[in-house]
Amino acid sequence: MKTFSLLTILIGMFLIQTANASDGHKTGQQLYKDNCASCHGTSGGMDMNKRVAPPIIAVRMHYIGTYADKDSFVMAVADWVEKQDADNSLMRGAIRRFNIMPPLSISRADAEKIAEYIYEGNVEKPEGFQQHFEERHGKNRNQ
Ligand code: HEC
Repeated sequence: MKTFSLLTILIGMFLIQTANASDGHKTGQQLYKDNCASCHGTSGGMDMNKRVAPPIIAVRMHYIGTYADKDSFVMAVADWVEKQDADNSLMRGAIRRFNIMPPLSISRADAEKIAEYIYEGNVEKPEGFQQHFEERHGKNRNQ
């Protein structure tokens, strides 16, 4: 009996280890696809009535306006993913339109990896985003 429970614990620990290890190998982009893209992806395009959340490129632009350097950007996005607090929102209009983002179950380390990926800027854009942005904010401000 004793041996059995020890074995069970060891197997359990092994399974947890491998689960963590495989997550650790995922890139920020893969983690973004798994955890964020269903809401922040290109589906629905620029028609906000067909979307469930703002496109991730729009989130990036709002955050980079306030958190220009990588460290504070990553911290702010990971903080948001950890806890959605309307008082810290940079997108109050989006909360009014879509309601506040629901909580996700994701580790801090993975949230930071995703935030780094978003910061790098090579993220998906819905069709028509560039045009919409230039009309609203002028051609030269594309950061
Ligand atoms: C179930 C849908 C859903 C998923 C999944 C989701 N989000 Fe969101 N997110 C939203 C909605 C809706 C908003 C707009 C309302 C708001 O700001 O809370 C939003 C807003 C945000 C904002 C801006 C918050 C603010 O108001 O300043 C950030 C940053 C963000 N999401 C990051 C992420 C990241 C990173 C992931 C993946 C780890 C993710 N979201 C996954 C629905 C989602």
